[in-house]
This record gives sequence, C-alpha cells and structure tokens, in this order.
Amino acid sequence: MVRITEHPILTTQSESRGSSPWVQFWFEDACIDAVEGEPIAAALAAADIVHLRDSQRFGQARGIFCGIGQCQDCVMIVDGVPNIRTCVTPVRAGMRVQRQHGRGEP
Ligand code: FES
Repeated sequence: MVRITEHPILTTQSESRGSSPWVQFWFEDACIDAVEGEPIAAALAAADIVHLRDSQRFGQARGIFCGIGQCQDCVMIVDGVPNIRTCVTPVRAGMRVQRQHGRGEP
C-alpha cells in the first residue's frame, strides 16, 4: 500500500498535518516510519502490514474493517496493553505494537 500524498478533492497529507514530524515506532521487531498522530493501523497499512490480529475462535487473520473504532477487528497489543483499537489510536514515537492472538492474554 502507499500513502496518498496528492488528491484533487481531499486535503493532502502535507496540508492537513502541517509540519507534523515523522516518527518511528516498533511493530514487533520492525521499525516503522509514521506521521506522528496518524492512526497506528494506517501507518502499518502504509508499510504493507495489514494482518493486525488473529481471531480468537479460528485463529483467522484480521485487519482494518470499519476503520472508525466500531468493530474491533483491528485490536492489537500496544505498549503491553491488549485490545487497543489501532484504527483510532494515534501513533507516538517509540511505541511498541504487537499482533494480537485471540484476546491478547498471556
Ligand atoms: S477497524 Fe473496526 S474498530 Fe478498528
């Protein structure tokens, strides 16, 4: 996937984010570049990471579905806390994000 940097109708990233800095965070062992404050799931999608969790019952891969914080298909472990909806949780520098399996219990 790629970031949309130019669009004829929507506000572009540079217009909407002004001078927001690029930051790095960790997805498991990978360092990911992101614009500070964008949703974690969006930053991961821009890095071609769309498998965010495994379902509890069948262990099936799940990713962004609603994108507005309603379905919980995007929940991940963020800084050790499970069940964080990454489509509505902003990226912060240095945060640690892990794919969640089931309920995210140890
Ligand atoms: S994709 Fe539905 S809550 Fe995040």
